[in-house]
Order: sequence, then structure tokens, then C-alpha cells
Amino acid sequence: MQPDAATPATMPCLQGRVLVVTGGAGAIGREIALLAARHGAQVLVNDIGGAVDGSGGDRQAAEQVAQAIRAEGGQAQASSDSVATPAGAARIVASTLDHFGRIDCVVNNAGNARNAIFHKMAVDDWEAVLQVHLHGSFYLSRAAAPYLRAQQSGAFVHMTSTGGLVGNVGQANYMAAKMALTALSKGIALDMGRFGVRSNCVAPLAKSRLTALFDAGDAAARARGASFDRLPAAAVAPLVVYLCSGAAADVTGQVLVARGSEILVMSQPRPLRAMHRDGGWTVDSLARHGMPGLRPAFVPLEQSGEVFSWEPL
Ligand SMILES: NC(=O)c1ccc[n+]([C@@H]2O[C@H](COP(=O)([O-])OP(=O)(O)OC[C@H]3O[C@@H](n4cnc5c(N)ncnc54)[C@H](O)[C@@H]3O)[C@@H](O)[C@H]2O)c1
Repeated sequence: MQPDAATPATMPCLQGRVLVVTGGAGAIGREIALLAARHGAQVLVNDIGGAVDGSGGDRQAAEQVAQAIRAEGGQAQASSDSVATPAGAARIVASTLDHFGRIDCVVNNAGNARNAIFHKMAVDDWEAVLQVHLHGSFYLSRAAAPYLRAQQSGAFVHMTSTGGLVGNVGQANYMAAKMALTALSKGIALDMGRFGVRSNCVAPLAKSRLTALFDAGDAAARARGASFDRLPAAAVAPLVVYLCSGAAADVTGQVLVARGSEILVMSQPRPLRAMHRDGGWTVDSLARHGMPGLRPAFVPLEQSGEVFSWEPL
């Protein structure tokens, strides 16, 4: 198989590696699974085949992607377990080891959405989103970690979101999960670097049923939704496959963005500006000196669409 049309035929960068991609039947996950297989990976395609809100399930969803990989001459196995429970995550790892004998890369891509303006956000909406994006990524990463440690190699890629890193109205649950995911990734990178294991985040922007949720918003939200029409899910996959490969041996702890033909590296929290007052601060001196001094470094309360303000290239 040719890895992809734009790449000359070189040694497939994931030859001999085993990659798990969760949410592998979704828009972005399917493209990651297919491209990883074209680059030589044996792929465990995991997906519950659920609705956007996480309800329901279609056991055939993951199997169809696995079949598409096999039809191209690749190797794939399907799993319909949920990442949202420790037992489901353990079964995904066990299934990977049963079928392929090892595990090298985990792509935490499964996702759901339960958008609601904050004062109407139900506890269930909060828990359901945190459970898949954050807890599910922990459960699966934690279940895979001992195997990567033992073999002294491996890579995690976690799909975060500019909607989480910058913000979007009506997505406090999703924002909390996606921002926390970058901390989980950083923690894994710090703890497992000594074992040759890397961990990075990718914030994709690509047309899918998740971005179709913008259609239910105001005019600005709908315009933002329409901008995704020019962002194919397939454009995200090369960055993820690269991060899983040995070519990215020195890339860890990073948060990258894939937006059509653009790739970007995101900032991570660092002190921006400091004020000092001999003897410490009072409420009054904070109001008169402290905050006016810090204010030029305040971060504006913007949404993702305001920061990613240019049309996709
Ligand atoms: N599309 C974008 O522009 C965009 C932007 C930012 C972040 N993301 C993130 O990228 C990832 C992929 O999103 P997408 O746009 O392809 O959406 P999608 O809805 O097409 O795919 C998500 C897949 O995850 C699966 N899934 C949900 N819960 C699961 C669970 N508990 N266990 C296993 N699988 C489960 C769903 O069945 C679905 O197939 C998500 O994590 C999403 O938050 C996407």
C-alpha cells in the first residue's frame, strides 16, 4: 500500500507498530485509523457507534472501519467497548494484546458533546462529557502504560480542542474536559519520558457531526460552523500519525493544532507579568497598584472563533 498520494514510497513509519484509536468510526478517528494502517500499523479500531450525546450504540461502526482497512490490505481489529469505564478500557487493551501481541500507540480520540448554557447544564451533561474525554483517556492510557513502560517505547496522542483551550459559549463541560486533557498529557509526558514514552495533544478543526452543533447557535455560531466546510477530517490524520511515529522521537508534552492545511503550536501557561509590593498587598493597594499593573497582561475573554479569526487557508 502507498502511505498516501503526497508521500513518496519510503519505509512505512508505523511498520511493526500496533495503534489503538478510540472513536475510530467517527469523522476524524476513521481517517487516523486508515492512514495509520497505510503507514504499516496494525490498528485496533474502537468505537461504541453512539449518537453525538453518547447515547445508543452500533457494534458494527468500528467493524466497518476495520473492514475498510482490511480491504486495502491492512491489518485491523474492531472493538465496541466504551472508554468511559475502567473495565471497558481494560478490555480494549486486552483485545489489542490478544490480536496483535503488543501495543505501541494510543490515540484518545473518542468524544461526545452535551452543549448547554452554564446555568442550565445538568449534572448528567457534565458527567457524561468528562467521563468520555477525560476519564476515558485516563482509563485507557493507564491500562496501556505498563506495557509501554516494559517495552521502553510508545506514544500517546490525545485529541483536545481549541473550543476547550480558548473557549466556546455553552461548552463548560467540554472545555473543562479538553483543557484537563492537556494536563493529563503533560503528566504522562513528564512521568513516562524516562521510559521512552511520549505524549502529545492535537486540537483538530474538521467538519464532523460535532461541528454541526454550531448550526443550532446564533448567526456568529452558524458562520463559524460553516467555516468547517473547508476543513476535511482527513487533513488531521497526518499529524497524528507523525506524532505516533519514530520521526517525532523528540516531540513530547506539546499541544498542536491541525486546521486544514495549517498546523500550529499552542502556548501553555507561563507567568506573563508580575508586581511586587514591599510588605505585601492590601485590598486597597491591589485595586490601586496591583491590578492596574497586571491588567496589560490579562487574557481577553474570547471564544475560539475570535482567536482563529482567519478563514481556513
Ligand atoms: N471536529 C472538530 O472540529 C473537532 C474539534 C475539536 C476537537 N475534536 C475532537 O476530536 C475527536 C473526534 O471528533 P469528531 O469530530 O471526529 O467527532 P465524531 O462524533 O465524528 O467522532 C467521535 C466518535 O467517538 C465515539 N465515541 C463516543 N463515546 C465513546 C466511548 N465512550 N467509547 C468509544 N467511542 C466513543 C463516537 O461513537 C464517535 O464515532 C473528539 O475527541 C472531539 O472532541 C473535534
